[in-house]
Order: sequence, then C-alpha cells, then structure tokens
Amino acid sequence: MNARKILVTSALPYANGSIHLGHLVEYIQTDIWVRFLKMQGHTVHYVCADDTHGTPVMLRAEKEGITPEALIARVQVEHLNDFTGFNIHFDNYYSTHSDETKHYSEAIYNRLKASGLIAARSIEQLYDPLKNMFLPDRFVKGECPKCGAKDQYGDSCEVCGAAYAPTDLKQPYSAVSGAVPIKKSSEHFFFSLSDTRCVDFLRRWTSEDDHLQAEAANKMKEWLGEADENKLSDWDISRDAPYFGFEIPDAPGKYFYVWLDAPIGYMGSFKNFCEKNSLDFDSYWNKDSTTELYHFIGKDILYFHALFWPAMLEHAGYRTPTKIFAHGFLTVNGEKMSKSRGTFITADSYLQQKLNPEWLRYYYAAKLNGSMEDIDLNLEDFVARVNSDLVGKYVNIASRCAGFISKRFAGKLVDGEDFVQLQQMIDDSFKSWRPEKIAAAYQQRDFAAAVRYVMKHADEANEMIHTKAPWQIAKDPSRDKELQLVCSLGIQLFYLLSSYLKPILPETVKQIESFLNCEPLKWPTLSAEQPVSSLLLPAGHTIKPYQHLMTRIDNKKIQALTAANKQTLTAKPQPSIKEPIADTISIDDFSKIDLRVAKIVNAEQVDGADKLLKLTLDIGSEQRTVFAGIKSAYDPEQLKGRMTIMVANLAPRKMKFGLSEGMVLAAGGGGGLYLFSPDDGAQAGMRVK
Ligand code: MSP
Ligand code: ZN
Repeated sequence: MNARKILVTSALPYANGSIHLGHLVEYIQTDIWVRFLKMQGHTVHYVCADDTHGTPVMLRAEKEGITPEALIARVQVEHLNDFTGFNIHFDNYYSTHSDETKHYSEAIYNRLKASGLIAARSIEQLYDPLKNMFLPDRFVKGECPKCGAKDQYGDSCEVCGAAYAPTDLKQPYSAVSGAVPIKKSSEHFFFSLSDTRCVDFLRRWTSEDDHLQAEAANKMKEWLGEADENKLSDWDISRDAPYFGFEIPDAPGKYFYVWLDAPIGYMGSFKNFCEKNSLDFDSYWNKDSTTELYHFIGKDILYFHALFWPAMLEHAGYRTPTKIFAHGFLTVNGEKMSKSRGTFITADSYLQQKLNPEWLRYYYAAKLNGSMEDIDLNLEDFVARVNSDLVGKYVNIASRCAGFISKRFAGKLVDGEDFVQLQQMIDDSFKSWRPEKIAAAYQQRDFAAAVRYVMKHADEANEMIHTKAPWQIAKDPSRDKELQLVCSLGIQLFYLLSSYLKPILPETVKQIESFLNCEPLKWPTLSAEQPVSSLLLPAGHTIKPYQHLMTRIDNKKIQALTAANKQTLTAKPQPSIKEPIADTISIDDFSKIDLRVAKIVNAEQVDGADKLLKLTLDIGSEQRTVFAGIKSAYDPEQLKGRMTIMVANLAPRKMKFGLSEGMVLAAGGGGGLYLFSPDDGAQAGMRVK
C-alpha cells in the first residue's frame, strides 16, 4: 500500500465554554478515523486548537476580572485535559491567538486585498453607549418583532422561530450593560464573496470531486442558487475596537472578525507543529500540494467551511480542502441537551464520575455512519449496549479462554500440528473475518458498519466457545490437547477482533496487547490469496495471565452523572488556584485585624468608577461607607440586605469618590470574585475570630 500524507482537523472549540458530550461526537469521530489511518501506516497529522477570539471571550474575561489571555490559557488546559481524558490524541493542540495564525491571517487578507476581493463600506449597527462598543447580534435583546415574546436575542426568536435583524427588535436593550442601544455607523471590510470569481469557483468546487457529502452539496446548491442568480452576499470580516482579536494591517481600531482567523488556526496549528518537527509546511498548503486535507465539522458550521474557507484559500493562492466531513448534532434521550434535565453533560463530569471513556467512544462509533444525521445518546440504550456488546460479547471471549491457557498450559497457545489444525479451523469456519470490508467501513467513516461486522464476528466466536464448552472439556484430564486447541482458537479470534476495534478502543486494546504479550497492533492487511489464518499470533505464542479488562456500566453512575450536571448550573467547578501561601504570622498578628459581621444596607454604582461599588455597611454599633472593587462580579441590587465580613479597624482611605472606612472580604485571584458570607444567624457587629 502506498503511504499517503494526510492532514486532518476537527473544528476549533470556542475558548469560552467547556467541552460537552456534543462536542465529543466530533473529536471522537475524527480521532477514530485518524487512528485507523495511522494503523494502516499512512503519515497522518491531526491538529486542532482553541478558537480564542471574539466578543464573548472578551466579555467573559472582563466579568471574571482577568485578561483574555489568562482566560484562554486556562481554558486551553481544561480542553486538552478533557480531550486527553477521552483518549483523543492530537499531534498538535494550539491556539488561534498565536503568531502563526496572525501571520497567515495577514498574509491571506493581504493577498485577497491585492486581488481586489476586499471592499470597505460603511454600515449602521447597534451600539452600546454606556459600554462604548458595537453589539454583536447575540448581545442585543428585546421583544420579538413577530410574536412580541420578551427577552429574545437580536438574530432570532426562540419562541416563534422568526429570524430578523437586531435593529428590528422592539424595546431593545444591551445584554452587556442594559443600556438602550443607539444606531451608529462605521466602516467595515468585506470579503467580496458575490464577486463572479468567487461564485464561479464555488459552484465548481462544491459540486466537484466529492469535496462534500451529497447532503452538504445539496445545501450548497440552495445557498448558491441557480446559474443565473447571485445569492451570495459579501462577508463582513471586520469588527471595531474594543475586540479581542488581531488588528487588521493598516487599519487601526479594526479587527479581524473571529471567523476570519478561526479556520486559519488550522494552518497556524500545523505550522507550529511543522516548526517543532522539521516538516515542510508549504508542501502541505501550496496550491499544487499532493497531500490530502480533511476537515471534520458539525453541520452548523458548514457555511463557513464550504463557502468562505475554500474561497479564501483559492483566491489567496493556497490549496483547498480535499474533503469536508460534516456530522449531525447530538441529542440525549431523543431531545436537545438540556441543563435543567441534566443532559447537558460536560466531558469533565463524565470523567469525574469515573465512567470509562471508551464506553462512550464505542457507543458513538456504533451510531456514526458518515452522514449528517443527528445522533442520539439514549442513556438506557448506552448502558445496555456497552454491557452487552463490549463486556458480554467481546471481552467475554478472552475471559472464558484465558484462564485455562494460563493455569493448564503455562500461558502457551498451541503449536506444531495443533497450530496447523487451528489455522484450518479458522479458514473453514471464520473465513468471513477478513479485514477488507471493515477497513472500507472505517475509511468511509461508517463506523456503525465496522462495529456491526465486529459484533457479528464476536457472536460467532462466542457460539464456537459455547458449542465446544471448554469448561466441560477441562473436567476430563485426557482431553487436555482439545482444551488447549479450543482456548487457543478463542484467544486468536479475540486477537483479530482487537485489531479491528483498536481505533475505537485504543486504551483497552493497549492493555490487551500487554495481556496477549504482542507488539502494538497494526491494521491487518491481506493480499487476495492470503487466508485469514495468516493474520494470527505465531504458533506456540505465550500470553500473560488474564487481567480484568472492562467492567459493566452501573446504572447508578449514569444517574449520578445527570444529577451532577443538574448541579453544575449553580456550582461550577473552579480551576485549581496556584497562588503561594504567604509567610507565617503569629496569632497576635492575626488578632490585630478586627473582622466584623456586616449587613449591606445599601449598594450603589459610583459615577465614573470602572470597578467600584459604594456599600453602606451596618456593623451593629455604627454604619460605615466602603468602596469595594467588586463591580465586575456583583449587581448592587443583589447585594442589598445580605451579610458579609469586613475589616473594621483598617485605616480610612481618602478616595477620588469619597472616604472608604474599611474593607469587605472577597476571594479572588483564580478567575471570578466571591464575597464572603457568614452562616445564617450571625448578627451584624459580631466579631470574627
Ligand atoms: N469555534 C467554532 C469552530 C471554528 S472552526 C475553524 C465552533 N466552536 S464550537 O465549540 O461551538 O463547536 C466545535 C465543534 O463541535 C463544531 O464542529 C460543532 O458543530 C461541534 N458541536 C458543538 N455542539 C455539538 C453537538 N451538540 N453535537 C454535535 N456536534 C456539536 O463552532
Ligand atoms: Zn417570536
């Protein structure tokens, strides 16, 4: 087989949220495909990165009182932990906030500009006059212009489904500050997608060479319209400051829209990988490249990957993707993932419950068929299927045969004449176990078909064991040879199934390789003349004692999982805090600080202050005014009436806005800010010791 050079990507997850089981449909799917190709001996690089830019990241960092850089660094660690926990192996996991991505973003933009495909025009948008920023659609809320539902987003109504422009909303308000937005115009840059060069290219590209699945190609026809129409609009690729992203060359205060640099992050991550591994980036991305490039994506981001992205690459002089593989969305128990039902399950919570990641990999594989259909994780079916297929059928083969081999034959499988007989049995009764059809299913990303073949074979193996009944043979010492033969056959079949399942169950199969005492399994290949029996462990091979390979899923753990995800709504897990502990002090030092329980009787905004709220605190004997730097984390209305702890003997401090007579206690420094409260019953003025 000729080794191919292949670059594979998964979509870059946003840096403002946690990985959940929906995301994993994509990353597990890609990982299985990549592992299969690597097992076949191809040169495959699988790269990904966090998608770090945009308004949501900027605002979330601000809310947590940290820089966007600190936020994205923290989230990247979390994401990578989640992926690693599910045995998803990237050759490189990077960030779009990188020099490499910046370099290629500028290069592509400059080349598009030189080709006359960048246009500037002034547009009118909603602007938050308090926060001094333009508001993305999702940050404007108001009443739906169609049905009047309150608190709807600026792009569509969740009640009646209507789509509209944010300027159509009635009673609009900024979701950032609550202010009434005003209309303001500003100059934006557009990628001229409606230019005939782009339209002609895209018509060709989306219909040729199977770049897209049939369903996706049909969608494109819809978006592109008939040959005499021009349905594409130019694409707005700039955003005004304040924005977290890359500033556009020669356009101070203008930034690339996050979706401009996001796919370029594929290049950035790969470039970074090439630098570390002395690989030639250009041979993968030049227009005449003979390497293959595949993007796995969800159906929601098809427009970006099948229209904008190839058009950008083509007109900036780079190669375009070989294929784009779009998949459907995950539902849980037949419904959209839901926080209130506890089915919005984070990757981390699954791992925290000590559920085996390979159970989920297997279940997804059993459902994925390479189409754009949605896939359902039915939790009852998940438990039943994993227990029956993986534990009841697959692992069972080894556990029924290995004990006898260890105890009665010192771990040795049959050799000599007996091995020849074993080969004969395989070629008589198991000749359908050839790898080609399973390989074709993997290659086409029809993992469901691969799993069906494997489980059918597992049934056949179990049937053989059931018929021969080694536990019966074992009772008669004169039938030792027969016992060794049957159990060796079982182990050899288990060995074959393990290579077929390895892309899906990499860690389990790693343990199996150690149990079978063999080299890491490669993809088995046979020439047309070779029989299945040429794939076996050698005659007289010795295996190690069987060790427990996989437990059954306990239903209680699944209940605990959904329960835990209901809770995460209120109690979000926080990152570990690494601030070192301060120098030791004596009890006398500590008792110098007079801490008192205080009731917040009033809290208000301070005109002209970015961070401060003005608090009026009742400490029993008197009232104090304190300016506290907690505006980013608290709404004054929420604070009124609650209890907290203050330092009552701190020297008063004259501030621009007035005298501050103490300090309230809050935890921070790890993202977020948390005011202290005493337990119920504490009275204002009580001393804290
Ligand atoms: N940042 C963009 C992608 C930029 S690629 C240059 C983005 N991020 S995302 O975090 O929202 O999604 C990452 C991937 O996960 C996307 O391909 C998306 O379709 C997929 N999924 C997110 N939720 C999903 C489900 N519920 N089900 C299946 N896939 C889902 O989009
Ligand atoms: Zn509506």
